[in-house]
Amino acid sequence: MTRQSKNIKSALRTKPRGKQVHHARSAVAPLPQTGHSAMTQSDYAIPFNRPCFVGNEQAYMTRAIANGQISGDGAFTRQCHAYLEKALGVPKALLTTSCTHALEMAALLLNIQPGDEVIVPSFTFVSTVNAFVLRGARPVFVDIRPDTLNLDESCLERLITPRTKAIVPVHYAGVGCEMDAILAIAGAHGIPVVEDNAHGLLGRYKGRWLGTFGCLAAQSFHETKNFTCGEGGALLINDPRFIERAEILREKGTNRSQMFRGQVAKYSWIDVGSSYLPSDLLAAFLLAQFEARDHIQSVRRRLWDFYAAHLRDWAGRRHVGLPSVPEHCEQSYHMFYMLMPSLAARQALIDHLKTKGILAVYHYLPLHLSVMGRRFDGRTGDCPVTESVSDRLVRLPFYIGLSKADQARVVAAILECPVI
Ligand SMILES: Cc1ncc(COP(=O)(O)O)c(C=O)c1O
Repeated sequence: MTRQSKNIKSALRTKPRGKQVHHARSAVAPLPQTGHSAMTQSDYAIPFNRPCFVGNEQAYMTRAIANGQISGDGAFTRQCHAYLEKALGVPKALLTTSCTHALEMAALLLNIQPGDEVIVPSFTFVSTVNAFVLRGARPVFVDIRPDTLNLDESCLERLITPRTKAIVPVHYAGVGCEMDAILAIAGAHGIPVVEDNAHGLLGRYKGRWLGTFGCLAAQSFHETKNFTCGEGGALLINDPRFIERAEILREKGTNRSQMFRGQVAKYSWIDVGSSYLPSDLLAAFLLAQFEARDHIQSVRRRLWDFYAAHLRDWAGRRHVGLPSVPEHCEQSYHMFYMLMPSLAARQALIDHLKTKGILAVYHYLPLHLSVMGRRFDGRTGDCPVTESVSDRLVRLPFYIGLSKADQARVVAAILECPVI
């Protein structure tokens, strides 16, 4: 018996398998982009994700209620802003209702106009692109690197035109894009960079926090993310020239934030805008998660290392790719994925895990080949790495409530998958 299989067997013995108790919040609607339309997370003994509570969420929400302010920008929102600004050293952080909305604010702040072009990876969540398309921009899809699955910086230069108004790198799985090269190319052409850092809070590139490179960056606190309040996000503002207008856009186009600070007597309509600020109840929940940062990140790191250590040999033998984290990047431990040799192998693995009560999922479908992407002239072959990876990537269960025994079950089920 190899050391690897011994470890798995002993982890399996550590906890007798009882009936799995699910927290109500795991009973989510059919999952988006998973290829599992009929079943939900709660149908699985080991779901793909389960939101986990770290201790003070309820107490802080109760305190928000006692404070008498549950609308936006209350005491807990201010503490979340201060936490992010201090932790990352950013001039300004503003909580938003989602990462999608933080990206929409970025598009407004950059004054994206109909006909402008925005360079975005095709391998990303739809919001990275939609936020700019909403303003009338034309997405110009760039392929990804085969190692980190991040935007391929070597493709950037040839996609730039006089109409290019933004480049939006996504730090996939919380591993930094090649920011030196991206910033050099963007800087040479005077093009702003907006980081989609939905996955990457607390990841670093060459020692610097992800989210601090672009003039603007967007965070997600959706329930699948390392730090969550169910639905939420933040706009990180690295170029202070955007701060004043960002506050106005976020408050329905008014200068209400200035009024609350006593800078103006009355607030009024100043600019376009929308309602992008979350309730202080959500901020209370989020602050509790921020304060548990060391616990959350150390558990996620342990989970990631366990998968990597126990799947390495098997993956090598079966031509399965595992995540690649360059030496100069510290990842955020957001997810663990594998690149199967083929679409058929991926489906076989997902189906096999399903028979064991384990939900593994895939994403993203190439955006350039979607209904919308084709409207922007996307064609098969435009982004070959994206097209291949999209067929083959599978994500394994990854949440801080995943017990050692259950994680060992996932690994054991993968190792015994008969069809790969
Ligand atoms: C890369 C990326 N960007 C943006 C988003 C949107 O995040 P939110 O759900 O907070 O709007 C996601 C969601 O998972 C994502 O993966």
